[in-house]
Amino acid sequence: MEVAALETRCDMIDSSLMSHRRKFLQSLAAPAAAAAFPTIVKASALGLEGAVPPSDRITLATVGVGWMGGGHVDEFLKLPAAQYIAVCDFDETHLTQAKSKIDLKYGNQSCAAYHAFEELFSRRDLDAVSIAVPDHWHGMVATAAARAGKDIYCEKPLAHNFAEGQAMVMEAHRHNRIWQTGSWQRSVENFRRGCELVRNGVAGRIHTVEVGLPAGHTDFAKTALQTEVTAPPPTLLYDRWLGPAPEAPYCPARVHKNWRWNYWYGGGQLMDWVGHHVDIAHWGLDFDNSGPSEVEGSGDFPPRDALWNTATRYKITCKYPRDITMIIAGGYPEIRSGTKWIGSNGWIWVDRGKFETSNPEWLKPEFDAGPVHLPKSPGHYAQFLECVKSRQKTLTPSEVALHSATPGWLGNIAMFVGRKIRWDAGAMHILDDAEASKLLRRDMRAPYQLG
Ligand SMILES: NC(=O)c1ccc[n+]([C@@H]2O[C@H](COP(=O)([O-])OP(=O)(O)OC[C@H]3O[C@@H](n4cnc5c(N)ncnc54)[C@H](O)[C@@H]3O)[C@@H](O)[C@H]2O)c1
Repeated sequence: MEVAALETRCDMIDSSLMSHRRKFLQSLAAPAAAAAFPTIVKASALGLEGAVPPSDRITLATVGVGWMGGGHVDEFLKLPAAQYIAVCDFDETHLTQAKSKIDLKYGNQSCAAYHAFEELFSRRDLDAVSIAVPDHWHGMVATAAARAGKDIYCEKPLAHNFAEGQAMVMEAHRHNRIWQTGSWQRSVENFRRGCELVRNGVAGRIHTVEVGLPAGHTDFAKTALQTEVTAPPPTLLYDRWLGPAPEAPYCPARVHKNWRWNYWYGGGQLMDWVGHHVDIAHWGLDFDNSGPSEVEGSGDFPPRDALWNTATRYKITCKYPRDITMIIAGGYPEIRSGTKWIGSNGWIWVDRGKFETSNPEWLKPEFDAGPVHLPKSPGHYAQFLECVKSRQKTLTPSEVALHSATPGWLGNIAMFVGRKIRWDAGAMHILDDAEASKLLRRDMRAPYQLG
């Protein structure tokens, strides 16, 4: 019997038997089975020419196919180890675009389109999901995915707020899920190498880290003037888009991409970038399971009731173990964009496409940094798929993302209450400040709850 026919037959079997199906088809690809069917089974049909047989691919869906989710689709479609079976969004236009892209690539109409992630996650033939919804939805979607037994690639920052991030980590662990966070800089060579230099003590004892992030509000969707309240477009399930955030009138400047400039949905430039450059700062310092003990900050804010109300300029100072001070700033030109570790023997600075050190020798490929090596990645999306198969930890599991985002959440809280926050990084709570502690979480609009 030809493999294609076998696959059709197997597709009719209940999806709970998917793993048996994979094993069965894998066994056909084994040399012994190939010998048993020497004239019938072509190597190309079994994926023996570098391709992955369909039966052995990781079935995948993306939830939230706007800007970044569209990027997920592009990147996962390049990887033979993945097989898209569905996309999900509240916006019909985004949904149709993503489905068309996937169907075009596969030459069929098979990609399913969902509005409700709950319905999507009930599919038993779905192995993994990538999540690129606005931050205010991360907690709801990711915990549901973990409970449904899906492996998860979830965008940074981990969550809208600390409490939801903590719940996500707990659910991912409770259900034994593989988790990659979209802090993709860990998969890029100059960031990895910069961190490796720091870890090996090349710059001596690090005492200061400067993290430069953007300031202001980027008008991504050119909607700055579109604050006039109108009826939502019929193509958008607007009340679902608001989800756990409070009811609010629709206007274009509130939703797609620009949601990050309102604290109900995002956390401003600070939270938009904390999962990149602070994440790298932590990686270099080996603080993936650590955090600051004190955080203070100041910022410039629009009026509280403005639609775009996140800080436009900010400076956060964090005290870390080993007597290290980290300054996270947006709108302070003396703090360069990216991550700069400053030590007793010099400095190391990395940014996207940039890498400089106080001693140019350290940049040479032949320079021996020392015995500590950080893992080289095949690419952030590919590394996730590899880990789904191997069940090994990814470069950015959920608990790492929780620690990377925490200085940002605490920085915002310190700015809101206008005083220094003391943080117990082991127990992960704010010390002796009830008002600040309340801001680690938010109330969700009924009937939404994390479950
Ligand atoms: N890693 C990176 O470099 C990077 C870059 C940009 C954005 N991001 C992150 O990606 C996420 C998405 O950001 P964006 O700029 O693409 O936003 P976006 O507004 O462009 O897209 C979000 C999409 O999600 C949909 N959506 C909202 N709630 C949903 C839900 N519960 N179920 C299904 N669909 C839902 C929206 O309709 C929209 O189409 C954010 O967490 C952001 O921080 C990461």
